[in-house]
Amino acid sequence: MNDIFLRACLGQKTTPVPVWFMRQAGRYLPEYQEVRGQADFLTMCKTPELAAKVTLQPVDLLGVDAAILFSDILIPLEAMGAGLSFKEGKGPVIDPPLRSLDHLKRLHPVSPWKDVPFVLETIKILVKELSDKVPLIGFAGAPFTLATYLIEGGTTKSFVNIKKMFFENPALFRSVMDLITEVTISYLSAQIEAGVQAIQLFDTWAGVLTRKDFRDGALIYARRVFNALREKGVPMIYFVYDGGHLLDMVRNSGADVIGLDWRTDIGTALKRIGSDVVIQGNLDPCLLFLPEERLRDRISEIIEQGRSAKAHIFNLGHGVLPEIPPEKVKMAIDLIHELSS
Ligand code: CP3
Repeated sequence: MNDIFLRACLGQKTTPVPVWFMRQAGRYLPEYQEVRGQADFLTMCKTPELAAKVTLQPVDLLGVDAAILFSDILIPLEAMGAGLSFKEGKGPVIDPPLRSLDHLKRLHPVSPWKDVPFVLETIKILVKELSDKVPLIGFAGAPFTLATYLIEGGTTKSFVNIKKMFFENPALFRSVMDLITEVTISYLSAQIEAGVQAIQLFDTWAGVLTRKDFRDGALIYARRVFNALREKGVPMIYFVYDGGHLLDMVRNSGADVIGLDWRTDIGTALKRIGSDVVIQGNLDPCLLFLPEERLRDRISEIIEQGRSAKAHIFNLGHGVLPEIPPEKVKMAIDLIHELSS
């Protein structure tokens, strides 16, 4: 097993630096499109053979150092009783959105083996298939990010409904967050029991909060997840997108690895939070459009900065975009390995 990803998570410097990309299984890959042509996205997530197949594609085609389970952060919301659909070209929809205590009472905790067996079966297949390849990363949405979908009903620009609830009706907000946090803990515990070797908590939208509101509305719940899972003994990554202003708090969340988007360079981040941390990131996904020589320079810069950290896991600052040619993704992965060897 290629274990450089796990060793870096534990704080060891590795040669080469491990690399995986958020959304490494996705629409930019023709091999993904082929599977997607036969099944809609949710059906893919719920069919272990299909989910396992697309999880393995970037490992076999691109040579990444870790696989990430193919699923979606919104799957547990549906398992709690929320109505989830993916509208073509519109992204996820939760209907109806949660706006009242009455509605909250209709949602329930999740028993993973009963409510989302397909996720755990996918993991079982992958653990076998990956045994002599690379580790498998499990994941969940962080409680605040899941709550944005539940309360807004989909992707939003203003976050007006969740912020309104948080500011005006903090008791209801806390009850929603308590339930989501409990679900996230049991969901990730089951993933770990099924065999994932690391987990990542995606806090895609917590960056819209001020520092104080991040602490009270997002961090305490993420921290509860990390505290509950610590005894399971797998490395835990916390990725807060657009969270440059929150880095010191992310550093103290209880996670083992700090995921960075591209807005804050690694050197600046380490100056602010100290260099005794494991950093994951942080190439701007759009830089993958660059021709090889210029891409090489941008990757070198990141590797150089990563050398000052306790350990570095190379990633993008956010997911691979559907528009990126797959050969550029492969080129980047090869360059990262070459330039850090
Ligand atoms: O990274 C991976 O390869 C693993 C699979 C994965 C997906 N979504 C597959 C997916 C992971 C880890 C996610 C996480 C996720 N899902 C997040 C957090 C990460 C981030 O992007 O900030 C969020 C916010 C979601 C919710 C979600 N799912 C949205 C907003 C969308 C639509 C956006 C889009 O790109 O169309 C999805 C759909 C989705 N999730 C796709 C994939 C491959 C595209 C589905 C398709 O049409 O084939």
